[in-house]
Parts: sequence; C-alpha cells; structure tokens
Amino acid sequence: MAYTIGVDIGTSGTKSLLIDPDGNILAESSSSYGVSMPKPLWTEQDPEDWWTATVKTIRAVVKQARAKPSDVKAIGLSGQMHGSVFLDKAGKVIRPALLWNDQRTFDECEEITRLAGGRENLIRMVANPALTGFTAPKILWLRNKEPKRFAKLKHVLLPKDEIRRRLTGELATDVSDASGMLLLDVRNRCWSEELLSRLQLDRSMFATVYESEDVTGSLRPEIAEKLGLTPECLVVGGAGDCAAGAVGNGIVRKGVLTASLGTSGVMFMHSDEPQYDQLGRLHTFCHAVRGKWHMMGVTLSAAGSLQWFVDNVCTELATRRGADPYQTINIEAAAVPAGSEGLLFTPYLAGERTPHADPYARGCFVGLTSKHTRGHLARAVMEGVAMSLRESLEIIKSLGVPVREMRLSGGGAKSQIWKQIFADVMDQAACTINAEQGPAYGVALLAAVGSGQFKNIEEACKATIEVVKKTPPKKSAVRTYNSMFPIYQSLYGSLKESFSAIAAIK
Ligand code: XUL
Repeated sequence: MAYTIGVDIGTSGTKSLLIDPDGNILAESSSSYGVSMPKPLWTEQDPEDWWTATVKTIRAVVKQARAKPSDVKAIGLSGQMHGSVFLDKAGKVIRPALLWNDQRTFDECEEITRLAGGRENLIRMVANPALTGFTAPKILWLRNKEPKRFAKLKHVLLPKDEIRRRLTGELATDVSDASGMLLLDVRNRCWSEELLSRLQLDRSMFATVYESEDVTGSLRPEIAEKLGLTPECLVVGGAGDCAAGAVGNGIVRKGVLTASLGTSGVMFMHSDEPQYDQLGRLHTFCHAVRGKWHMMGVTLSAAGSLQWFVDNVCTELATRRGADPYQTINIEAAAVPAGSEGLLFTPYLAGERTPHADPYARGCFVGLTSKHTRGHLARAVMEGVAMSLRESLEIIKSLGVPVREMRLSGGGAKSQIWKQIFADVMDQAACTINAEQGPAYGVALLAAVGSGQFKNIEEACKATIEVVKKTPPKKSAVRTYNSMFPIYQSLYGSLKESFSAIAAIK
C-alpha cells in the first residue's frame, strides 16, 4: 500500500489524517491545546505543545488505519502561518512563539517600512506591506525588546517547519509559508537578499526554501520508530495553512475561489502570475502549486468570533451535558431573519488585517435594541464575518478577476446556516466538496505527489476532489445584505478614532 499522512499544526489544535492512493481518508485524529495571551494584543504558544500533538495524532492515524510502517510513503506538513519559533545554536527554543494574530509589532512594522525605503519599495521587494502578524516584524521585536534573547538567536522557523526539524533534522520551508515572513522575494520564489541586508538579518538564520511538493528530507530513525513508521518515510515541503487548505479544496486553477472559516477567515484566489493589489490590502503569496501564486484577504477572527461568543456568552450551553452548544446556536440563528433585524457585528476581536490593517480595531455589536435575542447576536456574528470576507471578495473582483465558483471550507462551513449566509452575503452559490479537511488533506495530497503517486498537484486534485453540494443564494436575503453591506463598511471609518482611543486606555 502507498499511504500518505497530512498534518496541520493549527492554532486551536493539530490534526493528522491518513489517505490512500485514491485520496480516501482512512484515519483522522486531532489533539487540542491553548493559546496564551500574556498581555493585551499578545498571543503565544509553546512549540512543545505542537510537537506532542503531532506525535500523538500521527501515531493515532497509523494505528487506526492498521498501516504497516512501510505503507506510509510520505508526510506533508501544514500549519498556522507567520509564527516565529526562535532557536539558539543548540537548537533550543529561546522563548514561546509569537503567533499570526499577535499584534505587538506596530513599531517594528514602521521600522521595516522605513528601512526598506518606503512602502512601495517594500512591496517591490517582497510583494506585501509590513503587517503586525507577519514574521519579520516579530524578529525585529525580539531584537528591540528582548536583546539578550536576540543575542542567542541562531535560527527562525515557522511553526510547521519547527515540526519538520524535529521530524527530519532539516531546516527547510516551502514557498507559500515563507511568503508570509515578509522576507521572501515572492516573484522569484527565493529569500530577498536586498531586504535581508536592509534589515541587517543574516541569511543563515533562515531555512532552505522548497516548492510545496518537493521532498525536504526523511524521518530520523528514532522518530520513525516513535511514530510507527520507517526512516524511508519522506517529508515534503507542504504549505502554510491557507495554501494547503486551498489545495485541499482543489483551488489549483484560475476562477475558483475558496472562503475558509477557521479561527481566521481567508478569501483565497489562485493566480497564474504574481498579481498585486496596489493598496496592499490583499496579500500576494506563492501558491503551493509549482510556479503559481495566490492572493488572499484575511479576517483575523472568523470562526474565532463565534467561538468567542459560544465560550463567553453562551456559557450555560457549554456546561449542559451531552449538548453541542454550536448546534443550539445554529438553530437559534436560523430562526432569525436575514439581517438580524438591524443588528450588525464587526469581527475585529483581535484587530484586523483585510481591508483594515489595524491592530487596534475592536469587535462591536451595532444596532442593539431590546427586541434582540441571543439568536440575533449569534446570527449577527455569522453575518459580520461573512461581510468582512465580502470586503476581500470585492477587492478581488475590482482587480478584474473572474469568480466562477466559491467553495467554502473550514470548521464554520459545517454549519448549514452559516453556509447559506455566505451564499446570500456574496450572492454566489457556496459549494462544499467531498473532503472537508482542508489543510491536512491538501498536504497529504502534496505528499502523494512528492512520493511519486501523481505527476503534479493539479492531477492529484483532479483525481480526488469534487463538489458535492451547492447552496444557492436566496434572492430576498441577497437584497437585505446588499442594503446592509455599505452600512457595515462604513462602521470601521466611523469608529476608527474611538478604537485607537480605547486601545490607549491601559
Ligand atoms: C494567514 C493567517 C492565518 C493563519 C491561521 O495569513 O494569518 O490564516 O495562518 O492559521
């Protein structure tokens, strides 16, 4: 048998799955962990938690599938992007990793823009403006704010690449994830020597860059034994979770777009050329498809907003034995009319990226009246997330990009009511595919390509992925949302000053 395993090191947990050569998922396992928030705007995780979860879930899928060690030919790694794993010369982690939604690096973003010779010059070098979530500002933050630790710094790795180092001993990354470090020459798919030198960062600090389907190494013998696999098991480049999720949704050609509803929400579009939004609102990154690119817009708190709502506002639901709080919330939200009877929600619980790159933006319910119930609040959260991603869709469309099909993925896409809201807010059918696992599935397919089971990722997706359900938009809801969208869009501008003032209060 020729099996492959996909591992996704997410923010709320790690998921592994094992697939056969036809792309059927034979086993799945996940293990969760927490995020620590030592200060406002800070988010951190201990790489050790990712490692424990990776070992546990790989062992579980090998066991569940009753795979012989030699059956598993390759592993693909996906993970939350932009996180900074700081290592010393002995390979020890220097401090907890700063995550993609950490917002502490506002000053360092300004410093990078200045050192790069301005925003335009920065975009010329690395295709993107400096945003607080990206990795380069985190490295400068360490240099500025924790100089003793910086003095020990030898290597900086992304989350999934730290797992690769522990699996194989190699310091390697892939083009899609490396794009989010703000140090990659995205057009030429290699480190930007020019920016590294302007920032005075040593090239040797960073991993070797591979295409996503290329083999980056194989398992260290002692690790292979621990996992129930062999040292011949290959590890391919893999991808950042956005590109991996897109591959897992079959987004490997023009015209099909995916909206994913994980902790963050991503509107992702394949592109044959590196295309730019002049205003830098969308990210332009390398795709996990060899020699291709993608653009995407990111809502920092998507399903994360609903999770916040359920965990903090619906606490009694979570404690009811045997009841799934999300099921109750879905039923209550579905009973409320489209538009939540005039209630709007801005999902800026962790600041925002697209289109407002603003760490100080805040979540709000606007329009509350005494008639609104918990169901209205829940529905408004779902609608606010959809409107936020519509802002990305509008930018994509304004670049003249044809959108023929929208696929929905991620945990939030399991909710039929949220799916309908997406179709109605975007006025576009929301399609779901046969494999719902997104990033882990995408990198399991990349591993199948890397171990020679398919010619390329396009062929692998064609053989394994199909649309199984289409949720068409409902005309009257589309009309309601079209009239609410401009109001939603105006909220950020109206509240921006207040957000900054609130953030200044300690
Ligand atoms: C993408 C981003 C998030 C994380 C979440 O730019 O920051 O989607 O990758 O896992």
